[in-house]
Amino acid sequence: MNVVLLISRWIHLASAIVAVGGAVFMRFALLPAAKATLTDDLHERLREAVRARWVKFVYASIALLLITGSINFAILVIPSKIKSHLYHPIFGVKILAAFAVFFIASALMSRGPGFAGIRAKRAKWLGILIALGGLIVLLSGILNQVRTSQIHPTAITNM
Ligand code: HEM
Repeated sequence: MNVVLLISRWIHLASAIVAVGGAVFMRFALLPAAKATLTDDLHERLREAVRARWVKFVYASIALLLITGSINFAILVIPSKIKSHLYHPIFGVKILAAFAVFFIASALMSRGPGFAGIRAKRAKWLGILIALGGLIVLLSGILNQVRTSQIHPTAITNM
């Protein structure tokens, strides 16, 4: 058993669950509930209180996804000398989508005037972030199947 890979994969998946799960909760529970029940002033105070706490989770998730993703790549991808022409283009799309997610999440957590336009339409941008997160998880599953089916031709049928 490769313990480093096991722990890295565990942290990678846990970070993805926390980050994407938090966005789903905010978009479909917290945001509409706060809008329906609070005055603008109270909503703004709640938003800042949530932001101050959640921003630590967002930046920690981004850092952990980058670190553990690189470890996964070094252990799983580089030594396997993957022959499929599909793996690397799909990995490239995943990384681009991941950086788009990191950008949107950082913009939504920011306070300065720079990303005020994105924060003003937070429901829309949270929706885009969630859709991209779903796409990334799907692409990651495809990467897993492409890679493991090359090493063990029966792997997919045994999964
Ligand atoms: C929002 C960001 C991300 C999400 C939601 C995400 C999600 C996932 C998930 C769910 C898996 C497991 C797939 C499976 O075994 O079925 C995975 C695997 C992996 N991730 Fe990520 N990931 C993200 C960012 C990154 C980044 C930034 C990197 C690289 C620096 C990366 C590199 C990898 C690698 C190499 C694997 C293994 C792929 C394989 O099995 O061949 N990920 N990721």
